[in-house]
Amino acid sequence: MTENVVVVGHPLVQHKLTLMRSKDISTGQFRALLREIAPLMLYEATRDLPLTETEIETPLARMRAPVLAGKKLCFVPILRAGLGFVDSMLDLIPSARVGHIGIYRDPTTFNAVEYYLKLPEDISQRIVILVDPMLATGHSAAAAIGRLKELGAESIKFMCLVAAPAGIAAVHAEHPAVPIYVAAIDDRLNDHAYIVPGLGDAGDRLFGTK
Ligand code: URA
Repeated sequence: MTENVVVVGHPLVQHKLTLMRSKDISTGQFRALLREIAPLMLYEATRDLPLTETEIETPLARMRAPVLAGKKLCFVPILRAGLGFVDSMLDLIPSARVGHIGIYRDPTTFNAVEYYLKLPEDISQRIVILVDPMLATGHSAAAAIGRLKELGAESIKFMCLVAAPAGIAAVHAEHPAVPIYVAAIDDRLNDHAYIVPGLGDAGDRLFGTK
């Protein structure tokens, strides 16, 4: 396994990703599958959250029982395709805050251009889970992580569905300490910086645009 990369090989994740890759499913099916897969990926990305104990009373006895300790979470979708993860991540962890970062890639240079940013004020106190379905060149993810760090985020994880090896290398060249959670690492990028075999344009497939 590549260092600091977790490939989520769970059969449910793998099955749903295969369905999402098929060009024959509808926008609604694609959106529903992304909604289903997001908490399964989040389950893995939150595996190391620290626990503490609290005293509670069940109907039968008092006991000390585990609860999440310390830092709270902030989910940050990279607009727009990252939005497809958020609702069901919030179903799993309703107390999380949501920041947004808008980045598009310049169609000729493929460089990341930021056009929107809104984060909670206490971002430095939170574990940030940055989400984008596709890690292609890695320019957007690396730029987003850079901005999060500039604004004080100290604990950042990146979660995506499909990554290209070049994207992983680009993110880790700048941010080696940021773990990447991914459902699949594909072969390569094509001349338009799309992941092959990939699943196409995740934003278009999610929102039904072209
Ligand atoms: N963004 C996408 O939506 N798909 C790709 O394959 C690459 C970047």
